[in-house]
Amino acid sequence: MVEIIPAIIAKSFDELHEKIKQVEGFADWAQLDIMDGKFVSNKTWNNPVELKVESKKWKVKIEAHLMIMEPWKSINEWIESGVKRIIVHYESFIGHLDKIGEIVDKVKNAGLEFSVAINPATPWSVLGSYLDKIDIVFMMTVEPGFGGQKFIETVLLKVGDFKNNFPEKRVEVDGGINVETAGKVIAVGADILAAGSFIYKHRQGIGAAIKELKGFVQKFDPPVGGDEFLATKPLPH
Ligand code: DX5
Repeated sequence: MVEIIPAIIAKSFDELHEKIKQVEGFADWAQLDIMDGKFVSNKTWNNPVELKVESKKWKVKIEAHLMIMEPWKSINEWIESGVKRIIVHYESFIGHLDKIGEIVDKVKNAGLEFSVAINPATPWSVLGSYLDKIDIVFMMTVEPGFGGQKFIETVLLKVGDFKNNFPEKRVEVDGGINVETAGKVIAVGADILAAGSFIYKHRQGIGAAIKELKGFVQKFDPPVGGDEFLATKPLPH
């Protein structure tokens, strides 16, 4: 079943805490967008030690999307921060690709899920040798750094091509997900949709926004039920 994850860009811990509390009860996961002002020009709250204490109070599981240079240098703090999934960018390892193998074992041995993100122009083939250890392939559908950007349609081809080759490997898409694009990414096989602006700036509020996106999930990825499932549904008259 396709999952919706609210994506949070926060400049302070208070803002982060507020945005997490707003989605509790509507989502099982929340994504923390962590930006260092170097890998991307934007800068966000970025303190895994502070998270360690506070995240225990939250009723959502956290995935940390590390848009930072040299993520291996802070991976231990993120592993110990209480997050359940760590997403690193392939592009932040260029020139140090040996480090991917190093940190994937650390993350998974700590019982966390490990995901590698690729930017719109990066082919999924770069992940080939790591795929068996990657839990989720994370495909950016905007250039990383900011919310509210326009969805990049060409990434649909990359998602579809990857899922044709690896139908069992989960794909998360992130960037420009809204009522116009949710159906498109689900139709090509996306398993997890991360959305920021559509959820946090929705006129009817967070719950309505997530419900609207889940409506696309029902439409494009209906739960598969056996005959007993059909037997319980009222026959169309
Ligand atoms: C961009 C972030 C995305 C972004 C999503 O660097 O990784 O998570 O915040 O925001 P929207 O859904 O507004 O594109």
